[in-house]
Amino acid sequence: MHSAVSQYNVHSESVDPFGVIIDTTRGTFVARGMMPHGPKRTEIAMTSEAGTLSIVVINGTVRPGNYTSAASALVVDELRKDPGVTVEVIDPATLNLSLPGAPSNGEGAKVLQAKVGAAVGVVLATPEYHGSFSAAMKLVIENLGFPSVLSGKPVALLGVAAGSIGAIKSLEQLRSVCSHIGAIALPLPVSIANVQQVFDSAGRCLDPGTEKLVRKVATNLTDYIRKHLCPAVQLERLLREGIPS
Ligand SMILES: Cc1cc2nc3c(=O)[nH]c(=O)nc-3n(C[C@H](O)[C@H](O)[C@H](O)COP(=O)(O)O)c2cc1C
Repeated sequence: MHSAVSQYNVHSESVDPFGVIIDTTRGTFVARGMMPHGPKRTEIAMTSEAGTLSIVVINGTVRPGNYTSAASALVVDELRKDPGVTVEVIDPATLNLSLPGAPSNGEGAKVLQAKVGAAVGVVLATPEYHGSFSAAMKLVIENLGFPSVLSGKPVALLGVAAGSIGAIKSLEQLRSVCSHIGAIALPLPVSIANVQQVFDSAGRCLDPGTEKLVRKVATNLTDYIRKHLCPAVQLERLLREGIPS
């Protein structure tokens, strides 16, 4: 997770050498413990100078003209507004993924696993098909390996449906599968109901309220990573490498 790690601004003072405390309330965290240079209190400012957060967005559909991609494009657009983020969109139709257990050279799975494995966070966007998330999305998950490269990664969920109850069932089932494979399925999944009235045929969102909600899928994920993962990564590095001089 090198991409979450960035420049250190350090100033230190002696403290009791007990345990480790993380304090992100001021955009810094405090590590307290036995450092290589002795007991210290260290404050480290988080900046995104040295790297970016790499996010992968996976569209769970191969249907021509699908609305799932129109919805996830808003998430991608929101992510791209953030200079500390890089985004890659994965379209399962381009990957030649195999059915689970079928003989194959596994090239599609290798490419998929490399991309998802290198990401700090993932957005899964699925249509609701027959009361569940799509078979294409399940096929993506089947091709992520065992143990899955999604394990331990934060995953934000987006579902779209033609029906008036939205993609609630898809999202609940997708959350369950994500949890099963060890992914961290974030709270606040977003479901779009009546999607064919919410987007026009060119993929433009016609409802500002829905658009705002969908864009939050992006910030929900990046906020989680910055608040919960970046401090842990920096702390681990600090404990391993010591305080930069
Ligand atoms: C095979 C199939 C099954 C579908 N099942 C449902 C469903 O159970 N509930 C629903 O609200 N819409 C259902 N739809 C409609 C989709 O939700 C609709 O196409 C919507 O635009 C999202 O899918 P898309 O990304 O393919 O456009 C189904 C569509 C297909 C192609």
